[in-house]
Amino acid sequence: MTIRITGTGSALPEKTVTNFDLQELVETSDEWIQKRTGIAQRRISTGETVAMLAAQACKKALEMAEKTAAEVDLILVATCSPELLLPCCACQVQDLIGASNAVAFDLNAACSGFLFALNTAQVYLQSGVYKNALVVGSEVLSKLVDWNDRGTCILFGDGAGAAFVETTNEQNLCENGRSSGMECMVQGSDGTRGMVLSCAERAVNSAFFSEEKIESSYIQMDGQEVYKFATKQVPACIQQALEKVEMTVDDVDWFLLHQANVRIIESVAKHLKADIKKFPMNIHNVGNMSSATIPVLLDECCRSSKIKRGDRIVLSGFGAGLTYGASVLVW
Ligand code: UT7
Repeated sequence: MTIRITGTGSALPEKTVTNFDLQELVETSDEWIQKRTGIAQRRISTGETVAMLAAQACKKALEMAEKTAAEVDLILVATCSPELLLPCCACQVQDLIGASNAVAFDLNAACSGFLFALNTAQVYLQSGVYKNALVVGSEVLSKLVDWNDRGTCILFGDGAGAAFVETTNEQNLCENGRSSGMECMVQGSDGTRGMVLSCAERAVNSAFFSEEKIESSYIQMDGQEVYKFATKQVPACIQQALEKVEMTVDDVDWFLLHQANVRIIESVAKHLKADIKKFPMNIHNVGNMSSATIPVLLDECCRSSKIKRGDRIVLSGFGAGLTYGASVLVW
């Protein structure tokens, strides 16, 4: 039995916000943002919700996989910015796409969310509990960002990406002799450093207990600490994943990394001694969309035929938690 991604899809809000637009809001410049992050513009919601974007991405993934919504067994939505705490976003997606036979729930591992959801789906599928899953990363981070904080508001964007994953009994041999399917995964968490990237919910104010008022319910970030964590942990975890399948960096065609900062991606490539050309990027156009970055990039690479059947891909993400992970698969 193999587990393969057979469809991908993505959806972005209509409105584009450039660095020049941000210059009107905070003391920053297009030059600073591009030099320090690689971002030129991002999409920002003007009404599109996490659930709406997720549903659009799912519809496209199902279309590519040539499946109907009624055939979906499991919907996993990774998000840290849902509109509603209840019901979960995955159930809203189930309703929006009409996947009446699916089990649906959310998972929050911030920017590692899509990867953790993909790994969770893989385990469900391997165990035979379900035969397929829609795995989604969807965010409207623009509502969690303090638009007066130049340290964070320049980084984030909104969007969603989805992958349809299914089990097959065929071997799916590719022209280059590789067998298409998920190969292995590695994931990790370090809660001791969680507060370097945080966002508070509302305070407890019940009939029995009142917490002190929370200072801010916007994203708070120590950018340099996150940067250090990412540049150390991501290459280590990719190496660990490759060792698990007895592969080296040279066996990998594409590294699809969480799009947080071009400098982080360049540093990971350097650590791994891998050609930077193997690291597709779209951060220039869409910014950091947290859990949505990897599936949106995967969808773009897949639809533009950059990624071809038989290519070996490493997906790797990191983010709040702190969380990190890597997956190895043959497309
Ligand atoms: O998904 C995970 C999410 N988070 C991340 O991946 C974040 C990882 N970290 C980063 O990407 C970088 O740390 C940032 C892009 C956030 C910041 O870049 P940096 O090179 O670490 O800059 P810095 O924080 O050290 O700031 C350098 C200077 C400071 O001024 P002084 O103290 O040197 O005078 C900042 O006040 O740049 C200033 N600065 C800005 N200037 C113009 C900070 N933000 C801005 C800004 N525009 N937007």
